[in-house]
Order: sequence, then C-alpha cells, then structure tokens
Amino acid sequence: MAPRASILVVDDERSIRDMLSIYLKREGFDVSCAPDGQAALECCQAQKYDIVIADIKMPRLDGIALLHRVREFAPETIFIMITAFASLESARDSMRQDAWDYITKPFDVDDIRRRIDEALSRKIALVEAAPGQAAGTPFGMIGSSAAMRKIFDLIPRAASAKSNVLITGESGTGKELVARAIHYHSNRSENAFVVINCGGIPENLLESELFGYKKGAFTGAQQDKKGFLHAADSGTLFLDEVGDLPPALQVKLLRVVQERTFTPVGATDEHKADVRFIAATNKDLAAEVQAGRFREDLFYRLNVINIHLPPLRERREDIPVLVEFFTRKFAREMGKDVGPVSPFIMECLCDCPFPGNVRELENLIEKSVALAKTSIMLPDVFVEQQPDAADADESPEGIPPGGLMLDEILDRIERRHIDAALRQSGGSIKKAAQLLGITFRSMRYRLQKHGIAK
Ligand SMILES: Nc1ncnc2c1ncn2[C@@H]1O[C@H](COP(=O)(O)OP(=O)(O)OP(=O)(O)O)[C@@H](O)[C@H]1O
Ligand SMILES: [Mg+2]
Repeated sequence: MAPRASILVVDDERSIRDMLSIYLKREGFDVSCAPDGQAALECCQAQKYDIVIADIKMPRLDGIALLHRVREFAPETIFIMITAFASLESARDSMRQDAWDYITKPFDVDDIRRRIDEALSRKIALVEAAPGQAAGTPFGMIGSSAAMRKIFDLIPRAASAKSNVLITGESGTGKELVARAIHYHSNRSENAFVVINCGGIPENLLESELFGYKKGAFTGAQQDKKGFLHAADSGTLFLDEVGDLPPALQVKLLRVVQERTFTPVGATDEHKADVRFIAATNKDLAAEVQAGRFREDLFYRLNVINIHLPPLRERREDIPVLVEFFTRKFAREMGKDVGPVSPFIMECLCDCPFPGNVRELENLIEKSVALAKTSIMLPDVFVEQQPDAADADESPEGIPPGGLMLDEILDRIERRHIDAALRQSGGSIKKAAQLLGITFRSMRYRLQKHGIAK
C-alpha cells in the first residue's frame, strides 16, 4: 500500500481547522493543523507535506506569503488555497504565484476530497507515465471532441477510398497531420508521401518542380529532372496551400487530376500519373471560386471528400488532452521530469483564444516544459510568456485578429511593476512608490485597486 498522503491544514478559524481535520483523518490522510502562516511555516520546515491547504487571509503570515516561503525549500509541495468567495480575485492572483488549486468558502468536503485526489493522482501520474507510451489515436492525433472523433472515424474511410481529398481549416489545425494519416492508412502507404507547398514556390519554378523538365527545356536545364508528380508515383501527392496555386498552373493541374497524365516541361511524351491527391487550404476555397480566383472544375475534382478541421476555440474539450499529450511528449524529449499542469492553468488554457490553433498550443507547452523549474508545471512558467502580458511593455508588432483588452493588459503590467517594486523595497510602500515615480497616495490607490494587502 502507498504511504498515506500527508496534509497540513492552515486556517485561523478553529471551526474550519477542526472540520477539515476530522474529515480528512476519517478519509485516511495523515493530517496536521496550524493556526496561522507562521506556525505553518515552522511545520513545513520540520516535516515534508504532500499538500498544504491554506487560508489566504491569516494573521502573522498570510497564505500567499506562506506559499512563497515554502516554495523556496520544498517546491514540490502542493498548495490548495482557501478563499472567501468574495475574494476570488486574490485567489486567482495566488494561482499566478504558484498555487495548485483553490477552493472557495463555504465549501463542501466532497469537493475538497476530489481536488485532493486530483492533485495527488496527478503527482503520481508523472512518476508512473511510462516513456514511449503515446496516448491518443492510431494516427498520432489527439482529440476528444465530437468534431475530432468524427474526423478520426473519417480518416480510415477516406484512406480506403480512392477519391481525392480536400482538407480545410485554419492554420495550425492539423491539416498536414490528417493528410499523412490518410496516406499511411491507405494501400499506398509503402510508397512516397510527397508534399508540395503551392504557396511557397515561385510561380516560374512551380511548374518544373511539379512536372519535372527535359534537358534543354530552358537555360540551366542541363539534364532531365523528375518532378514531384514523378516522386509521388504510386503514392500520395499532398498539395499544401492549394488555394495559392496560380491560375496557369490550376489549368495544368486539372489536366493531371482529370486524365492522370502529365508532360514534363520541354517534353513531348506523356507520362502516366498514378497518384492520389490530397489538397489542403486555409482559405475558403468555395469563396475563391466565387471570386473567380480558383477554377471551379479543379475545386470539384479535388473536393470529392472534404475534411474540415474546426479551429481549436470551437473544440475546447480537446485542449486538456492536447496539453497533457504535449507535456508528456516534450518532457520525454527534453529528458525532464515535468508533469501535468495545475487545474488552474488548465482553466486558463481552456479560455485562451489560440488564434494559431494546435500549433500555438504546442509551442506554448514546449516553452513551458523547457522553463519549468519543478516537476509540476505551475503558473509562473505560463505567466511569464503570455504574449500580451510579456510583450506589451514594448510596442507590439500587431494586434491579434481576435483583438485584445487594453485595460486588462495595462492592469497586468501595472500589477507586475508594483509587485516588483514592493519586492525590491522589502515591502515599503513609500520606497516602492519612489521606485515607480509615483506619489504615495497614487501608490496606495493602486494597491487598493489590485487588492494587495499591506
Ligand atoms: N489533433 C492533433 N493532435 C496532435 N497534434 C496535433 C493535432 N493537430 C495538430 N497537431 C500538431 O500541430 C502542429 C500543426 O499541425 P499541421 O502542420 O498539421 O497544421 P496545418 O493545418 O497544416 O497548419 P498550416 O495551415 O499552418 O500549414 C503540428 O506540429 C501537429 O503535429
Ligand atoms: Mg500545413
């Protein structure tokens, strides 16, 4: 049997201490109590606790200060903060200061039990997560939303059909991943999967890249060269960003798709093209057709099977599984013992707009794992890199398409500078105000506004 988890309950209200302690002991935990932060600090110095459940408002040393002090010598200790519902904001602030979770008063004991279990099981999960066990679907794609499950269901069916596929969706939603999954589940999987980025190759080169050329077809063509179509023989040709294909090449591609033959540049003989086409675009191709920028006939030829990947913000249920998947993946790759993110962080991530979709989330987790100092991913590594919080000090390069909330950004910047000044001044408001170049009164007003206690 695993050793009993140890919990320290810290609250200045005796009734709450007693209630929690009786309940948690009955649930089989090893429970100690402390009446304030200072006493709790001494307990933590004497013994290691798995979990500290601490009230935020307490005499002598408050819950957040306690958390800071304990972090210095026992960074793995999980903190669950208790707060009155009215001061939820300060609890959220404490999350940014490294707490794992918070509970609001009045609370119900079952809820506490659930949160403790969650914290403990996550802690154990990091130890037990076997390396190499990739969670998820057979295609290496992760998702639990109804939309993604539909796509997982569609992939093998699209793979066994011979028809062309058009994959649509915003940038970073996983279009290429779906294309690869289709190829590797088709009977062409032994042969090549060739990617051509229709938007990334200059128009004058695209044709010869695609079809190849004969020696002497143009200056510099010193010998025959095979193109992408040839390379994809018996395999799959992935036409990425097909919406960017110039009109002249749309005509030429249509011929290949329709007649399954092509002619290299400068050649006269026709070549057979045994190729399956999968195209992808982040444009609204039907609208491009309407606008006369994309050939309707080519559109219908490519769009036999359509797979649409919704943006991440429309399938937020996928965020937690993706976060866990990427955390494991990068922890393994970097050889770091980094575990799951706290429920609070997960809550924040689930609220993020992620205009860059899964790619953006993946990059965020990669950075966070790289920066993580303890085995639990705590808010600090995320807060430091929230782009709007971190970068907004300097003039931003642009405003994200979803827009932003200037007042909130300014508030956050103000708060960060006040915190920094207070730390530097050792808690002296007067000195902190001087450091920030504001009056004492203005400082007091701002402290009040941010709910920063003296
Ligand atoms: N469902 C998913 N599960 C796991 N990883 C995913 C998933 N969707 C996307 N990714 C990852 O996100 C990143 C972006 O995916 P991908 O390159 O397929 O997107 P895309 O739609 O082709 O983007 P773009 O339009 O910018 O080319 C990749 O690293 C991919 O592995
Ligand atoms: Mg792509």
